[in-house]
Amino acid sequence: MRTQVAIIGAGPAGLLLGQMLHQAGIDNIILERQSAEHVLSRIRAGVLEQITVDLLDQVGVGARMHHEGLVHDGFALSFGGSKHRIDLHQLTGGKTVMVYGQTEVTRDLMVARAAAGLSTVYEAADVELHDFDGTQPCVSYGRIGSRQRIDCDFIAGCDGYHGVSRASVPAAAITNYEKVYPFGWLGVLSDTPPVAEELIYSNHERGFALCSMRSPSRSRYYIQCPLTEKLADWSDQNFWDELRRRLDPATAEALITGPSIEKSIAPLRSFVAEPMRFGKLFLAGDAAHIVPPTGAKGLNLAASDVRYLSQAMIEFYGERSQAGIDHYSARCLRRIWKAERFSWWFTSLMHRFPDDGLIGHKLQSAELDYLVGSRAASTVMAENYVGLPFDA
Ligand code: APR
Ligand code: PHB
Repeated sequence: MRTQVAIIGAGPAGLLLGQMLHQAGIDNIILERQSAEHVLSRIRAGVLEQITVDLLDQVGVGARMHHEGLVHDGFALSFGGSKHRIDLHQLTGGKTVMVYGQTEVTRDLMVARAAAGLSTVYEAADVELHDFDGTQPCVSYGRIGSRQRIDCDFIAGCDGYHGVSRASVPAAAITNYEKVYPFGWLGVLSDTPPVAEELIYSNHERGFALCSMRSPSRSRYYIQCPLTEKLADWSDQNFWDELRRRLDPATAEALITGPSIEKSIAPLRSFVAEPMRFGKLFLAGDAAHIVPPTGAKGLNLAASDVRYLSQAMIEFYGERSQAGIDHYSARCLRRIWKAERFSWWFTSLMHRFPDDGLIGHKLQSAELDYLVGSRAASTVMAENYVGLPFDA
């Protein structure tokens, strides 16, 4: 079998890339380790920058997002017992974000791919990448007891942080930059009305908390927790009680609780692999970088990587130009590092760090007090949160 681009991973990056290549007449196949049901079972943040909304519209999968998604003009910072709104729309000259779960983005992309009759191999076992630094790149995988081989022009490694693509690159050819945070996020999904119409990020001396949502009837909440925490130690009631303690009194009072339909603990890390291109292999999305979820940049960075990569492929096949391919990594990394910085800064501002002592919380409170009182500082927060322009 042969294709032009072999895509490893059917998460948002792989699926969006597949649609953009298909739209440009570039043949592609996706190899996914898990089942489609497993992929859709993942609960992930869903705050979409306008560029991500535009890309989904561009590939024709924006209808349900516009129908069910929630356009948000701002969000709140809660500290010192009160809430302070960051008016994204006013501070950025009219920009907004779209709240629409990543699971739904993935589902919409899966439906579109199937409708286009494009090939996705789910439960592809033991995917291997071959000769991506040579002249005859190909991938192989196990399926029902036999090995299959797919010859290709390019390989797109969209297989996430734990994928095989980055792991296939010789250690001497790649530099990994990583920062692991000394805490995690305990998250709960519940079929309860969100406590507020917009997201609330709370800095509290007991730790960070976030009030988010998936729809007007489904809420998503997080509290910072030690990495040693065990899920079994967190009953729903314990979670709701601790969340209330970390919110301003009015919000705590308004909180509507209910049974959790999903509960999990996730670690936080900042990670970037450089470069993102190795011969005919291109890394995109979580395969190349991870951000702490505070700034909700993960899905948006995957989308911008894929935009650059699809443009590069279109230039290669359409104009036989290598320019986009040769500049892919540098263009992605320039945007990635700015999002990494924002995500690290927002995480550092909102969480309790064990080694910071009492002064740490005082310094954070002073920065928050300055931020909400300064149009310049609020504008910096807002323009990063809605997403920086491409190639800015
Ligand atoms: N072979 C085939 N598929 C693989 C392999 C492998 N060896 N390893 C991982 N995969 C698949 C995973 O099962 C997953 O479906 O690759 C896919 C990678 O998807 P994501 O991890 O969602 O990464 P990405 O598509 O880059 O999307 C980034 O996902 O993790 C969130 O916060 C992140 O929102 C961001 C988004
Ligand atoms: C979420 O809804 O899961 C979410 C929203 C915003 C974030 C992080 C997570 O910054």
